[in-house]
Amino acid sequence: MANKTDYKEEFCELLRSTGRDGIDEVIEYLESVGFFKAPASASHHLAVEGGLVEHSVNTCRAALAIWESMSQFDTSLQFVVKRDNVIIAALLHDVCKSDSYEKSMRRRKNDLGQDEMVPGFKVVNSALPIGHGEKSLVMLLYNTSLDLTNPEMLAIRWHMGPWGLNFNSGEETRLYDAANDNPLVPIIYAADLLASRIIERTQ
Ligand SMILES: [Fe+2]
Ligand SMILES: [Fe+2]
Repeated sequence: MANKTDYKEEFCELLRSTGRDGIDEVIEYLESVGFFKAPASASHHLAVEGGLVEHSVNTCRAALAIWESMSQFDTSLQFVVKRDNVIIAALLHDVCKSDSYEKSMRRRKNDLGQDEMVPGFKVVNSALPIGHGEKSLVMLLYNTSLDLTNPEMLAIRWHMGPWGLNFNSGEETRLYDAANDNPLVPIIYAADLLASRIIERTQ
């Protein structure tokens, strides 16, 4: 398993491999908001310093694997969704988490079944409480000059899949359904799920 520095290196290399304009600016921005030190969650997957960049790389690895394997069933997929679309959406889907946690002590059971307090993280109120995928998009679009494509924006917005959907809203349900017509949307949803539930299940 790579160390935390390696995950940051791999993250930056993958981003640069897309050849997009403004990548260095994006990396600088992510550094300034704490992306590379943030955990991926408060108490679930990768609740450790540097967990967010590790999770983002895991999601990208899973997304590329899904994209390549699904292309065997539909060879047109590689023309509809390009490698750089997969990398950009996967690596940047959780930028919203950069400022979502702060260090805190948390209670857990030790091997003897006794409660003990250990260092961990807690969720803090966001300065921009507008929703998960939406916040990632706003942060990137407002603070960097990265030119996101429509499918990349949709994949970031809807990366939580049905878990981020308000089923009381007929309009939102229709929009989500329409967004899934773009194959990048289900690829990123599946990759995020597989990263957290399989690649990171023991971490
Ligand atoms: Fe997320
Ligand atoms: Fe995620």
